[in-house]
Amino acid sequence: MSNVAFSAFVCLFFVCCSRAMPTALNQEAVNERPVIGILTQLVSDDVMKPFGRTYIPASYVKYIESGGSRVMPIRLTLTTAEYENIFKKINGLLFIGGAADLEASDYARVAKIFYRLALTANNAGDFFPIWGTCMGMQLLTVLVAGENLLANTTAENIAMPLNLTREAHSSRMFQGFPDELMKTLTQEPLTGNFHHYGVIVETFQENEKLQNFFSVLSTNVAENGAHFVSTIEGKRYPFYGVQWHPEVNRFQWDKKLNFPHSPHAIQLSSLLAEFFVNEGRRSLHQFDNPEEEASSLIYNYTPIYAGNFTGYEQLYFF
Ligand SMILES: *[C@@H]1O[C@H](CO)[C@@H](O)[C@H](O)[C@H]1NC(C)=O
Ligand SMILES: *[C@@H]1O[C@H](CO)[C@@H](O)[C@H](O)[C@H]1NC(C)=O
Ligand SMILES: *[C@@H]1O[C@H](CO)[C@@H](O)[C@H](O)[C@H]1NC(C)=O
Repeated sequence: MSNVAFSAFVCLFFVCCSRAMPTALNQEAVNERPVIGILTQLVSDDVMKPFGRTYIPASYVKYIESGGSRVMPIRLTLTTAEYENIFKKINGLLFIGGAADLEASDYARVAKIFYRLALTANNAGDFFPIWGTCMGMQLLTVLVAGENLLANTTAENIAMPLNLTREAHSSRMFQGFPDELMKTLTQEPLTGNFHHYGVIVETFQENEKLQNFFSVLSTNVAENGAHFVSTIEGKRYPFYGVQWHPEVNRFQWDKKLNFPHSPHAIQLSSLLAEFFVNEGRRSLHQFDNPEEEASSLIYNYTPIYAGNFTGYEQLYFF
């Protein structure tokens, strides 16, 4: 090919692309400055009570930040109108682990407000993702089922592989995973479990609401032999739940706790954080002005060192 012919080819290539690209961009608008809300958790542990009524472990904040998002902590003391207002500004929501009443607590009350807003928004084509980790996933099952179906599925301080279902291989959550990681995920203990309750597989399958709403992507066996649901994904909604803790793999280090830190465990945690933040990038909600945004973000708060009295190195209190 002569030089002239080559540059003609290059030129054509760019002309064609520059025509095609704006159309593609318009179809799938992307928000490159997402803010994910994290609902603060009620303090239940006596040693934490002197510091505040609600908290967020810094590991969850780092997890969301690692995917390329900023974080807004959401308190449990606001009015419904204030939550409705916050909903219009954030691009996704994370329900974290903890210990709270999933029906009667402030935590449950606020979660329900956001859950309903998210259902309505998604129904209207306003994409809004929610992720629940550990108790956050249990909460999602209570919200979807309209009742508490939890049973004793204790798996306390144990790392396990996942028993992936057939649906896992066609899921959105695991879609970008390399084959080797998918294989390792079923063989090596990459998922840290720290829970007493969960939804038993049979209960899940027999509940029409849960069954219609979520695909089960993985199950595990508890200390008492119960098979529990460990990873779920909304069939029609961008709602996701894990009974295990992806954030600990990269951001918690207490040697008494079985946090998976192998290279595959790190990769798992990174890919899921990136996946969820990518979901958040599809939401075009935004703050009214830069000042309002700046004053809402987690950067206004300083975590305290808590490694000498909890299993967390750093905690934010509110
Ligand atoms: C996966 O399922 C098998 C068969 O039910 C069970 O024996 C095994 O313990 C499960 N593995 C995990 C990690 O839960
Ligand atoms: C749950 O089951 C475990 C293992 O069988 C048992 O040690 C624990 O006491 C049970 N917890 C509750 C709350 O029933
Ligand atoms: C933990 O360490 C901090 C200093 O880093 C200290 O002020 C605090 O009293 C310690 N807490 C406990 C319960 O040991």
